[in-house]
Amino acid sequence: MRIPDYPFAGVEKWSSVDAYFAKLLAPADAGLDATLLANAKAGLPEHDVSATQGKMLALFIRMLQASRVLEIGTLGGYSTIWMARELKPEGQITTIEADKYRAQVAAKNIQNAGVSARVNLHIGPALEVLPTLEGPFDLIFIDADKKNNPHYLHWALRLSRIGTVIIADNIVRGGAVIDSDSKDDNVQGVREFLRMLSNNPRLDATAIQTVGEKGWDGFAMAVVKSE
Ligand code: DHB
Ligand code: MG
Repeated sequence: MRIPDYPFAGVEKWSSVDAYFAKLLAPADAGLDATLLANAKAGLPEHDVSATQGKMLALFIRMLQASRVLEIGTLGGYSTIWMARELKPEGQITTIEADKYRAQVAAKNIQNAGVSARVNLHIGPALEVLPTLEGPFDLIFIDADKKNNPHYLHWALRLSRIGTVIIADNIVRGGAVIDSDSKDDNVQGVREFLRMLSNNPRLDATAIQTVGEKGWDGFAMAVVKSE
């Protein structure tokens, strides 16, 4: 069992249910399994999305018929590969990784999974890369350092069109998100991000809690409804 980011009493059962769902709906796959193995060997933090979450992102891409995807926070490229595979043939995913070592691991994984032609991997701090990108993107997945989520949302909006879907990972953090006095910059970043989702008249958003092999966490999702 992987070490959950946010462990709770129920986590073993949550993990078993994840394994059961994954076996049925997001089954073992050579490219993705090799990626997780390479990430573990390289000593990357085990913060990849789960298989069922990767499948969810892939299904969103299918539902949106997305051809331009932006990912902020590549890590080892596990979610990147899930999404890249689901793109239309001419589709592209732009993914940003601040850490050179992680980006090298990701580049190899993306190559080995046979999707390099659809992936633009940018190495550098997202706040330096984002101003160089051209929108609009159809789907934007925010999964990097959470303290910068408010800035990432600002850029996501600039790189969007009406109908763009914005998804952010890790917005529950084992329940820590409701601690308004939290000294954790990541919690405060997520809280400000949620406030911005709530207040921005261009966005319609929701937040969904999840339990599973990663523990207790969740996703925020928003759709851009006006220019
Ligand atoms: C953390 C980051 C993630 O993207 C994730 O999915 C889980 C945990 C973290 O930094 O703690
Ligand atoms: Mg995450």
